[in-house]
Amino acid sequence: MKLTLNIWRQASTASAGEMKTYQVEASPDMSFLEMLDVLNEELNEKGEEPVAFDSDCREGICGMCGLMINGEPHGPERTTTCQLHMRSFADGDTITIEPWRSTAFPVLKDLCVDRGAFDRIIQSGGYISVNTGAAPDAHATPVPKDNADRAFDAATCIGCGACVAACPNGSATLFLGAKVTHLGELPQGQAERWSRVVDMVGQHDHEGFGGCTNIGECVAACPKEIPLDVISQLNSDLRTAIRKGH
Ligand code: SF4
Ligand code: FES
Repeated sequence: MKLTLNIWRQASTASAGEMKTYQVEASPDMSFLEMLDVLNEELNEKGEEPVAFDSDCREGICGMCGLMINGEPHGPERTTTCQLHMRSFADGDTITIEPWRSTAFPVLKDLCVDRGAFDRIIQSGGYISVNTGAAPDAHATPVPKDNADRAFDAATCIGCGACVAACPNGSATLFLGAKVTHLGELPQGQAERWSRVVDMVGQHDHEGFGGCTNIGECVAACPKEIPLDVISQLNSDLRTAIRKGH
């Protein structure tokens, strides 16, 4: 496949960026990131600066690899950028590749953004308190199946940030809803349940993410199919927490 790539190049957070055009040949069996690896090898051979982009697991697990591809977070398939294959494109295509666009995710270099805002939201409340000592027996705390299933589904959020990139408001409410639902469904998560939601929503707003107006673009972009109703649970928990005086 012969492809034309329009890629956002930006030397640092402080510098102005611009789109640059490259030609690359790739196989339909390559992943999107392997195609970028080929481009970078060619740029290295020519003595040019390779394109900076993030990746780690390349298995759809770590959430590092988000790119805006032709205006869609993670590209045309509902998966992570590392799991996107070049067979989703055609020979001769022009592909536009940009970093996540969000005030709360400043560009570090080229396609890499700083998603530290998500870490600070988790630090503000995304944990549980447990007694130290020997690990308890696995069946010591029964969890009803429905709660376990819902907690597990919410826990599949990998913190990739596609929901923020897709949202016209730049809101991270789907991410927030997933984390609050994950811990709020489990007995172990009850101790901090009400302070957690207040602290995490406060940190979300402090980081500069926008408010949710139920547009739903986040759900369409989420590679882990986190459902919109985690936002309902977030709002319900927030209302209860405020009623309880948190
Ligand atoms: S909710 Fe989905 S899109 Fe948002 S960070 Fe989690 S996995 Fe990524
Ligand atoms: S590199 Fe880990 S999810 Fe893509």
